[in-house]
Amino acid sequence: MIVAPSFLTADMSRLSSEIQSISKAKWLHFDIMDGIFVPNKTYDHHLVAEIKTYSSQFFDCHLMVDNPIPDIYRYVKAGADLITVHIEALGVTTIVAIEAIKKLGIKVGLSIKPSTIVEELVPYLEQIDLVLIMSVEPGKGGQKFIENSIDKINYLNEYRKKHGLNYLIEVDGGINLSTGKLVALAGADIVVAGSFIFNKNNREDAISELENV
Ligand code: DX5
Ligand code: ZN
Repeated sequence: MIVAPSFLTADMSRLSSEIQSISKAKWLHFDIMDGIFVPNKTYDHHLVAEIKTYSSQFFDCHLMVDNPIPDIYRYVKAGADLITVHIEALGVTTIVAIEAIKKLGIKVGLSIKPSTIVEELVPYLEQIDLVLIMSVEPGKGGQKFIENSIDKINYLNEYRKKHGLNYLIEVDGGINLSTGKLVALAGADIVVAGSFIFNKNNREDAISELENV
């Protein structure tokens, strides 16, 4: 299992030591929030660009924003390797966002909130590299895993087998050892973890435990 520590719960005042503490992780997950699509507002592309100067990890940028088009350019420039947009983003049609990301030569992900049915992703599955299943309501870390996320992961896992597709399945929210095991069994490839990692003293161990669920 690939583990993508979520930056939402990191101590921004000690940035480089926070990065150091999770340097074992292959991916870094950046939760970008605009205060419109979700009530919270987090950091912006400047933070991503700063971390890019001393991290060689895979930068996974999760745009929880209403109109992702302007942000897509900013985050690619800041060093994103993959950008995920939400199907529910009202400011732009999903296909326009997918094409804008692909045109810039980086990987594209599509995410759905807990209340969105997984079938809404079907028209796009052939064109994307990753699906991000939100297993909590987007907006903050430390929430409880929503159980019906498992059904969505199973559906997507079966669908890609049946149709010979190879999009990755990533799950974001409420991930710990027991929910991590559940999503791994359902077919997930990547887990985003915030509080499970950042609330631990030994973060390397937390990442290893999650990698081996
Ligand atoms: C919600 C955020 C969180 C975060 C993970 O918008 O996307 O899901 O990444 O936080 P934890 O692991 O604490 O649920
Ligand atoms: Zn996220």
